Parts: sequence; C-alpha cells; structure tokens
Amino acid sequence: MTEKLDKVVTRRDFLNQVGKVGGAVAVYGAMDSLGLLGSSMFANAASFNAPKKSDLVMANKMGKKVVILGAGIAGLASAYELSKAGYDVHILEARDRTGGRNWTVRGGTEETEINGVKQVSKFDKGQYMNAGPARIPQHHVTIDYCRELGVELEAFTNVNEAAYYYQENVGPLSNTKIRKREIKADTRGYVAELLSKAANQTALDENLTSQDIERLTAYLTRDGALNSSRKYTGTSYRGYTELPGAGLKPGTVGTPYKFSQILESGMMNHISSEYSFDQQMMVFQPVGGMDSIPKALEAKLPGKITFGAEVQEIRQTSDGTRVVYKVNGKTKEMTGDYCICTIPLSVLKNIPADFSSEMINAMKNISYAPTGKIGFQFKNRFWETEDRIMGGMTTTNMDINQIWYPSYGYLSQKGVVIGYYNFGQAALDLGNMTIAQREKHALAQGAKIHKSYTSEFENSFSVAWHKIKYNEGGWVSYTASDRQNYYPILNQPQGRIYLAGEHLSYLTAWMAGAFESARVAVTQIHERTLQENDSKVKAG
Ligand code: PHE
Repeated sequence: MTEKLDKVVTRRDFLNQVGKVGGAVAVYGAMDSLGLLGSSMFANAASFNAPKKSDLVMANKMGKKVVILGAGIAGLASAYELSKAGYDVHILEARDRTGGRNWTVRGGTEETEINGVKQVSKFDKGQYMNAGPARIPQHHVTIDYCRELGVELEAFTNVNEAAYYYQENVGPLSNTKIRKREIKADTRGYVAELLSKAANQTALDENLTSQDIERLTAYLTRDGALNSSRKYTGTSYRGYTELPGAGLKPGTVGTPYKFSQILESGMMNHISSEYSFDQQMMVFQPVGGMDSIPKALEAKLPGKITFGAEVQEIRQTSDGTRVVYKVNGKTKEMTGDYCICTIPLSVLKNIPADFSSEMINAMKNISYAPTGKIGFQFKNRFWETEDRIMGGMTTTNMDINQIWYPSYGYLSQKGVVIGYYNFGQAALDLGNMTIAQREKHALAQGAKIHKSYTSEFENSFSVAWHKIKYNEGGWVSYTASDRQNYYPILNQPQGRIYLAGEHLSYLTAWMAGAFESARVAVTQIHERTLQENDSKVKAG
C-alpha cells in the first residue's frame, strides 16, 4: 500500500484542516453535509445531499483507496459516490463492459452460456432487448440517479388492458385469448354483486351501520357496473365486440363470461401482480436501452475501471485489503484501504477469500433465482396492427409465462418482443434446451395467441441467467429464515471488505437494491474513515 502513503492524512494536515473548529465538530459537519448522519440519506433519494467542496478537499486529504469488485450498478454507484467524496477508487470488472445484469442486447451482442454455444444477436439497428432489468418503478432511487446522470426516461407499459390472458387446461376458458379488461370487469362485477347481496342481507350488519351499507352498495354498483337490481350483466368496462363510432354505430358490448368459468380459469389470480407496490403504474425505462444507466455512470469514472479482470482471491491485510486478479492471462494484485465486493454470492462463494466461516456458510446456503428471457425480432408489429396492443404484456400459464410488447417505437415497422420471461421450473426447463429449441418452443406457444407469430418471426436471442458466467442466477432468493440466519452476517463487513449489490437489500431483484446497498457501503466506509482519523488525532 505504499502507493498511497504519501496521500495519507498526517496529523498536522488533519489538524490544519479541521482542528481550528474542533475535530469532532468538523467531522460531524462533513458527515452531515455528505448526508451520512442518521438515515435521511437513505430514507429517500430526495434527501441525498451532494458533498460540499470543502468536504471534498478533506476527504481527498484522507487519501483512502477503495477497490471495487464488479462494474454492475452497485459497483458503479459505489465508485461514483466515493469519488464524489474525494476517495481514490478503482473497479475490477471481469467482463469487457459495465452494467452486470443491466444488459441491453443489440445487433452483434455475443454471449456463450455456461456449457452453451455462442449466440450472436442479429437484431436490426435500433432494435434491442433489455435482457436483465427492464422496468423502473417511480418510487425507486434509480429514478433519482437517472435525473442526476441525465438518463432520459420514457414510460414502460407494465399494464395494458388490451393485452391478453391465455390459459391452458383450466376448464371452458382454456385456449382462448381474452383481453385483460374483460376478465377484470367481469371479476369485479361478480364480486360486487355478491358483496352487495351479502351487504343487503344483514350479513354485514355487525361491521357496518345501515348508512355505511348504503354507501358500500353505491360504491359496489359503480365499481362492478351493476344494474338497477344490483346484478352484473356486463359493462363497457370490458370493452366492445363492435366499437362505438359515428352515425348509427352505438357499439356492442360483449357478453360476460360465467363467474365459475373465470374462477376455474384462474385468470383473476394474475390481476394482483399488477398492483403489487413495485409493479404499479407508472414504471419507466431509459430511452434506447437500460444500459444507458451504467453507461452514464461509467462516463463519470474515466480511467477507473479495469476490464477483463477476473478476481481470483480476496484478502485482508493488517490495515487494508488485497485483491488478486487475472487480466490478459497475467496475475496481478491491487491493494486498498477498503474493498467493496459486489460479486453475486452465487459466484463469490467459489472465490477464495478471507471471510469468516460464518460468512462462507451463509453464502453456501443462499440460493439464486433461475430466470430466462428471449427476445424475438418480428418483421412487422402485428400485435399493434392485428391486436391493437400498444405495449404491455400478455399473461399465460404456459411456460413462456408472459409476452412483452415493446414500449418504444410504436407504429414503426419492426419490433423486439419478449417471447418469454419466466422463473423457477419453467426457467430451468427452457434454460436446459438448446438455443434453437428455446426459440421453437417459445414461438409455438406464442403462436397460440398471435396467428402471425411464426410468419413474421425473424430472429431471436435468449438468456438463461443462471447459466451466465459471472452471474449464475437472476437475483438472490432469500427465504424468511435466510433473512434471519444469514442476511445479518452479509451486512457485517469482513474486516475492511464490504458487500454491496441487490443481495444486500430488501429490494432484491431490482437495480434500486444495488443502488441503495452501494450507498450503505459508502456511508459505512466514510464513517469509519472519519472515525479512524478522529481517533488518530485524539491519540496523537
Ligand atoms: N425486478 C424484476 C422484474 O420486475 C424481478 C421481479 C419480478 C421483482 C416481479 C419483483 C416482482 O421483472
């Protein structure tokens, strides 16, 4: 660590810097302006304060070097925040690109899965697929980073009432594509009818006053579109079989499905996923591809990333860290005062490291979620022209799980559709197929919903995240007992090694988890640096 000795703050420097106003007070002030006191910095992004210039000078004088493993969102965000505060940072990245799981596949993108064959994307110029993260909820800190970094956002259509439910082997509605709005309106209608019946048969008298029952009935009548006898007989909420138009065209409302048929189909069970907190509209995507985010962060870190650097060992030294890595076939070392390791646990558990036995055991017992996606480039946007589906997604119980229509390039000719995005067993099954089999399988299932699927198909690119080197999984998958037994261990630094990544958060499977965890690691490192300097001063 000789390279940084000259930069280490001397007692005199430190006193000159802060002594006049009292060390602790100045340190406190510096921490405060960095937003590092209390939890306000992390409660929400709006309260995050950029460090003041004077604090940057002070942090600079501390001359601390932080070696960061991985140039995904957590690694880039750590480096970005630390360098804003004047730390010396360097990222070691195994790939030749930044982003990690934030990966946009375009024409020419190459990938070889573990035990797989090489794929080269044949997407046209301007066509792309976000193979990893693809949507950003409006409350996530990711949005604030986009603002700060100038990453342009557009709406991502997470919910489209015109898209379909399509289920197999579930009674009379099987093998029928049904617009989401029909199932939603019918379900609400029948539930409203039943509840209003119960409310008016004194069944709810214990819970509600007679006035409340009246108000509830009025609400149910509106929400379920009940008729004057409080029966559900259909509504325009569910759309039309013939749209209203000019002249003598009032439009025709379709006939509702039978409630028992809907219940048997299970379609109504998909509805709740649309209003889970992180999936509610609005959600967003960067214009032109999700990798705009890592690219914008990378631009803030010129010369600070070594690509093609595969970590071999992570070591603790008496007063810092030492990372052994391989680059261009050569073994090298990088020392630092601290290390932030963002390598997914699925990969990290196989890297020799000076971790406690508790930590090694924790990593061994935590699993990662298998997940897969395929991008289909189609010659024409038949979903827009034939189905009038402008973005959003079709939901099915087939193992493609869902079809995503692009939320960009509306009305243009071609488009990339996500032909499957699945989890668990379906992801394992499709991941185990050859690239050609995946394509064929997903095309055949999609063709049950869209008649032009096969004829308009041009090319595909598929990814099984559990078979991608340096990831080996989509995201961490904690059980309740993992959170209790292992998660606290991961949150403790191993000497001067701190972990960051979506796996160090309660926002797993989201970029926001990576960003937030980076901010926690940066805060902890900065607090420790300030404290150690403070005690050095006192001891001196
Ligand atoms: N964030 C990922 C996505 O939106 C994974 C995820 C799916 C997380 C569903 C939560 C719920 O697809």
